[in-house]
Amino acid sequence: MPDTAVDLLAEKKALHRRRAYEAPLDKLNPAWASAFRDDGHWAYFERLRAEDPVHYTPDSNYGAFWSVTKYNDIMAIDTNHQVFSSAKGIGLSPKPSVLPADAFIEREVDPDGDANSFINMDPPGHDIQRKTVSPAVAPTQLHAMAPVIRERAGLILDSLPIGEPFDWVDLVSKELTTMTLATLFDFPFEERRKLTMWSDTMTTAPGHGPWNTYDERRQLMADCRAYFIDLWNQRVDAPPAGDLISMLAHGPDTRGASMDQYFSNVTLLIIGGNDTTRNTISGSIYALNRYPEQNAKLRANPALVPSMVSETIRWQTPLAHMARVANQDFEFKGKQIHAGDRVVMWYVSGNRDEEVIDDPYAYVIDRPHPRQHLSFGFGIHRCVGNRLAELQLTIIWEEILKRFPEIRLLEEPQRSYSIFIKGYERMMVLIPRKN
Ligand code: HEM
Repeated sequence: MPDTAVDLLAEKKALHRRRAYEAPLDKLNPAWASAFRDDGHWAYFERLRAEDPVHYTPDSNYGAFWSVTKYNDIMAIDTNHQVFSSAKGIGLSPKPSVLPADAFIEREVDPDGDANSFINMDPPGHDIQRKTVSPAVAPTQLHAMAPVIRERAGLILDSLPIGEPFDWVDLVSKELTTMTLATLFDFPFEERRKLTMWSDTMTTAPGHGPWNTYDERRQLMADCRAYFIDLWNQRVDAPPAGDLISMLAHGPDTRGASMDQYFSNVTLLIIGGNDTTRNTISGSIYALNRYPEQNAKLRANPALVPSMVSETIRWQTPLAHMARVANQDFEFKGKQIHAGDRVVMWYVSGNRDEEVIDDPYAYVIDRPHPRQHLSFGFGIHRCVGNRLAELQLTIIWEEILKRFPEIRLLEEPQRSYSIFIKGYERMMVLIPRKN
């Protein structure tokens, strides 16, 4: 990698470190997309864990919010859905005053609650809807899907250019996760890249994905909605099947849903099944290049693939945070949280909590308890697709190890400009030709 790129990144990280430590603690705000893009967010969380683990930011581009930054505190909030509700949004949304006047962002939550996806619901509605889609990712279903995922992973890897630089994010990470998602939805396979585009539309900022203006975003979202309503209409007229759309269209608790609510669940599944796994696949390439001794360990012992996968999910933390809104006053760790306050659980910070995880910044593929991490959340909203994500990652790595002795990172990747999706927009690599 050219020294200038490394120097530039180091300079940017040093700048974020200075900002994180020079800010008065009572105004400290860790939610900067630029810090995540520069890999400079760590210092904010390091300071918060040490000096103010349950911290209030009175104002920011996302309004006021609490930050919970230590592992066990995050678990305590995530498992207390009676007090910390998901029905008023599960993230940080920009304040209208920081967006352009014509900005169009889908409503994060429906004020009446009728059109929310189940991640934006509390019991009992949440539990009922989650039960409808869970069978699509249950162990028996995953067992049946595994050979299909393996075959597709093999096709992707066998089509890669050898001896030439290429973008791993585009040719592998996006392709594999989109193929799997297309299988789950029984989405027309040849059009699967639409799923990638729509997922990126929903999760990127202007200029960082498939859209530049809010008009373009509006149009893309309308196309996505029309496409999925069409699929619903086709499936509702056909006999029930095992794909997610058919499950929603025929499930006794979801078949009467409004198209707004159906589309909310579709967007949840598109984002849930796409960016997260994609960024973990890319993260594994990055981490194994940065930690060559771990790469050597893996190649010497492929039985480590499953624990390497879990370690990558911890180390990468593909979703940096989830949020809740307190539905009553609540004292937590000596701080008074008020009803209506937004509380952000920074998984990205909890996964670096040195009191719970040994040497947490290091990437160690044979940790004794590799699934001990916060990346999938906890409690009733714990990721429904977690086993599917692990399966995809395990299969792609088993297939990589059969084929390529080396995947060489060529330069620092371009990281996502987001406080939510912690990932990579582009990662240039080279697979050397075999002599
Ligand atoms: C490495 C990959 C993944 C990560 C890190 C991840 C992370 C998460 C997290 C943090 C949550 C919220 C947990 C909470 O609030 O306590 C979640 C929920 C969810 N995830 Fe994943 N996810 C991944 C893969 C997937 C896949 C492949 C699917 C596709 C089926 C999926 C579908 C969902 C759904 C539907 C929910 C909502 C669950 C609920 O509200 O009950 N995720 N995920």
